[in-house]
Amino acid sequence: MKTLIIFSTVDNHTKKISDYISRFLDSKDDIDLVDLEVINKYNINDYNRIIIGASIRYGKFRKSLYEFISKNKIHLDKKISCFFGVNLVARKKEKNTPETNPYIIKFLKKTKWQPNLVGVFAGSLEYSKYKISDKFIIKFIMWITNGPTDTSKNYEFTDWDDVKNFSKKICEINLS
Ligand SMILES: Cc1cc2nc3c(=O)[nH]c(=O)nc-3n(C[C@H](O)[C@H](O)[C@H](O)COP(=O)(O)O)c2cc1C
Repeated sequence: MKTLIIFSTVDNHTKKISDYISRFLDSKDDIDLVDLEVINKYNINDYNRIIIGASIRYGKFRKSLYEFISKNKIHLDKKISCFFGVNLVARKKEKNTPETNPYIIKFLKKTKWQPNLVGVFAGSLEYSKYKISDKFIIKFIMWITNGPTDTSKNYEFTDWDDVKNFSKKICEINLS
């Protein structure tokens, strides 16, 4: 089982989650973890299992993600394929499943891709990394959504047990 994990990230949290997923997969030796921005160097037909993770920024997944899915949908449909999204809305219990998270719902509708498994994980809030304008806007969004507004700290909302369970479910697809 050759696995390709592709991550689309800005501040590396999706990469961190991808790396964590890889640790719980079977056949660890045959996993490539690749940034979507350099995916052209890889041939996705070399893999039987493709896992794609992407984060949200200002309500959207990046354009390169949609381009990749559109270009490779036929191949993805022939393989075991999984998708997970990362965002801060998912820190809210009522929006932390693929069926209730607005970004995932919109993404699946738009791409018409039907991965074997879909997940959504709450991301991180790393005020220390943001430029001043982003820090200001994100702080405002946190204020109106009852999130943390102390910009001298960073916060991580990811439930790592959830991520581990996601990995285990990926392995089960392999067995069925
Ligand atoms: C500038 C900026 C805009 C963001 N916009 C959203 C958003 O619209 N909705 C949301 O749920 N999370 C939003 N987030 C939170 C990110 O999705 C979250 O920080 C995630 O962990 C980022 O993952 P990455 O480091 O892999 O890019 C935003 C974060 C930043 C810094």
